[in-house]
Amino acid sequence: MDIKNELAVRAESAEDVVCRFLPDVEGFQGMIFDAMVYSVTAGGKRLRPILMNETYVMFGGNTEVIEPFMAAIEMIHTYSLVHDDLPAMDNDMLRRGKPTTHVAYGEAMGVLTGDALLNYAFETALDAYDAPNADPSTITTAIRILARKAGVFGMIGGQVVDVEAEKKQMEVTEDMLHFIYELKTGALIEASMMIGAALAGASEEEIEQIESVASKIGMAFQIQDDILDVEGDEAVLGKPVGSDERNHKVTYVTFAGIDKSKQEVKRLTDEAINELNSIPYKNEFLVELLNYLVYRDN
Ligand code: IPE
Ligand code: IPE
Ligand code: MG
Ligand code: MG
Ligand code: MG
Repeated sequence: MDIKNELAVRAESAEDVVCRFLPDVEGFQGMIFDAMVYSVTAGGKRLRPILMNETYVMFGGNTEVIEPFMAAIEMIHTYSLVHDDLPAMDNDMLRRGKPTTHVAYGEAMGVLTGDALLNYAFETALDAYDAPNADPSTITTAIRILARKAGVFGMIGGQVVDVEAEKKQMEVTEDMLHFIYELKTGALIEASMMIGAALAGASEEEIEQIESVASKIGMAFQIQDDILDVEGDEAVLGKPVGSDERNHKVTYVTFAGIDKSKQEVKRLTDEAINELNSIPYKNEFLVELLNYLVYRDN
């Protein structure tokens, strides 16, 4: 399989779906629509909608009910980046190869753009109830997952501990680092794959298996992100390198060193793939994608 090419095809179709659900730029509040579109269309790998759709397909899903959720997860992910880049948080100026939202639109609009994308994500996900042959009970399950994993028991919870540890220069233990990564990055990756499974009608047990797979992928993904913050290329990454060092942030790399971190990315990915292969539904592309992500450079 030519994974690079296969991934590019899927990224393009995810891109189409995400863009289709963006608001029109009009009205007195036009600036917020403009900033939302700016942030979402700046680029991005679209990994979460791709993982969602591939899990949906793996469990036999085949309707357009997935599409509003693909758009919603990318809106929530993008909002998390817009806020993560704010001066009060990581204070970064470059994202997806363009000036960060607060640099382009000012800090107040940066805050509001994040708020707007979060709310709009739920407005969008609720559109799934209008899809032809929609099954209200699986959609409700999916919305519950989205809400839970984005919130204080998910991504926001992880960002809170991440920020607190950094600002107070706390002694970070391995357990704490694990907690931060599982939540700040793992939660939205878990949500992506769990929603794909749920909408395809997977059982509660199967959704839990997918949650465990996705949690390992999330952990590996964040460790790789930390590695790229040290040895990545800004032009390829589309965001600054050395941001963590500038913020004196304890990361897996500062904790364990670069070699051990790389081994851990590989180990977690292998574990995730083994677990995925134990589920009696197959998606060869998904396995290849996970292997590809171990060596990603952006
Ligand atoms: C960046 O996520 C933030 C992390 C959780 C590490 P991505 O690396 O998926 O960013 P985009 O969407 O491609 O810009
Ligand atoms: C952010 O982690 C995870 C989020 C929930 C946004 P980072 O702060 O390491 O993400 P980048 O490196 O800025 O993309
Ligand atoms: Mg951060
Ligand atoms: Mg950051
Ligand atoms: Mg980072």
